[in-house]
Amino acid sequence: MNVAAGVSLRPYNTLGVAVRAQWFARLTAAAQIPSLLARFGGSPILVLGGGSNLVLTSEVPGLVLHNAIGGLELLAEDGDGVSLRVGAGENWDQLVARCTGQGWFGLENLSWIPGSVGAAPIQNIGAYGVELKDTLLAVHTVGIEDAEPHRFSAADCRLGYRDSIFKHEQQDRQIITAVDLRLHKRPHLQLEYGEIRQTAERWGHDLKRLTPSQVRQLIIRIRQEKLPDPALAPNVGSFFKNPVVDAAQYQCLRQREPELVAFAQADGRYKLAAGWLIDRLGWKGRRLGQARVHPQQALVLVNEGHGSDDVLRLAQQIQRDVKAAYGVALEVEPRIIRGSSRLD
Ligand code: FAD
Ligand code: EPU
Repeated sequence: MNVAAGVSLRPYNTLGVAVRAQWFARLTAAAQIPSLLARFGGSPILVLGGGSNLVLTSEVPGLVLHNAIGGLELLAEDGDGVSLRVGAGENWDQLVARCTGQGWFGLENLSWIPGSVGAAPIQNIGAYGVELKDTLLAVHTVGIEDAEPHRFSAADCRLGYRDSIFKHEQQDRQIITAVDLRLHKRPHLQLEYGEIRQTAERWGHDLKRLTPSQVRQLIIRIRQEKLPDPALAPNVGSFFKNPVVDAAQYQCLRQREPELVAFAQADGRYKLAAGWLIDRLGWKGRRLGQARVHPQQALVLVNEGHGSDDVLRLAQQIQRDVKAAYGVALEVEPRIIRGSSRLD
């Protein structure tokens, strides 16, 4: 297996940050992992998928492992649905296109999310009222410490809002090699979020007969109106999580801001639309150095340079402003990778 030194990661992250990996390898099969671990054991290892949820800051020490493990296997099929095993290096949206094309329900609301299948469990990707946890059966990994295969059931993954065990005690300890999903053959639609239902009606669809492919097209259209294409405006999607506050704080904010956008949670708390708060404070379209708040979606920061300092400074200023104005702490969503020295 070819391991290269000093590879530029600029083509491998959607924020377009030009830093190098000390070592870089492309993983195409789980069977390659034990020998790599034997060679690089003890060095830091960063697994990279599509690089669409990372903020690189400086040269990445150790080994960057670009996951390109492919494959799609039908594990089981019955009258209700199918169970699939998908290689971690498969492209997420191509998987969604294939499954919706088969008429299988479950992934259509998660259309047009960049990145790899293997990264989907890391933050339990979610959009338009659906999360990965609604279809996930299991995650297969190879342990970085023991080079042994492991299986995490959906419950083991402890999936939450933009959260999983892989962001906590299993962070940087497992290489995800495959993901098992269960999809439905019968209608299983989630149309309650935002403008999906209205857009479907406007397009003349019969809501009772919507196919997964039709929902996919609706979602793609809605997303394209708001979210910038990383190839044209480098970004990592939402830069902050939507903060969840208790009912008392929500009522207090609601009195001050009657238009506040918030979603009641099952536990009585409220998830606030961080984009609304940032927008309300006048940040939309504002620039700091080579970073900019996206003019159509205040939760998205766009990088106009090849570093990440300005993006991180802009994020900090927004966090300070939202905290001062509303008493709400915004948590950064993408993972910030801090390395050693800078690429000039
Ligand atoms: P990467 O950025 O490569 O990695 C992310 C993290 O996962 C890193 O910590 C990495 O080390 C780890 N990782 C990746 N692969 C593996 C593996 N095989 N094994 C172990 N660890 C691994 N996210 C949403 O949830 N919903 C959205 O609607 C959404 N919309 C987006 C829109 C745009 C325009 C963009 C740019 C991003 C959006 N995202 C969204 C964020 C992002 O696409 C997802 O988080 C995606 O799952 C990241 O996949 P990736 O392969 O690019 O991960
Ligand atoms: N809003 C504004 N101004 C803005 C942005 C949003 O007023 O600048 C308002 C919208 O009008 C809407 C509400 O805030 O009433 C929510 O906006 P939107 O539907 O665009 O969703 P979001 O909360 O900003 C979340 C996810 C997205 C996901 C969408 C759709 C998080 C952190 N982000 O964004 O995920 O695609 O919902 O479900 O939960 C990502 O994680 O990278 C991501 C893009």
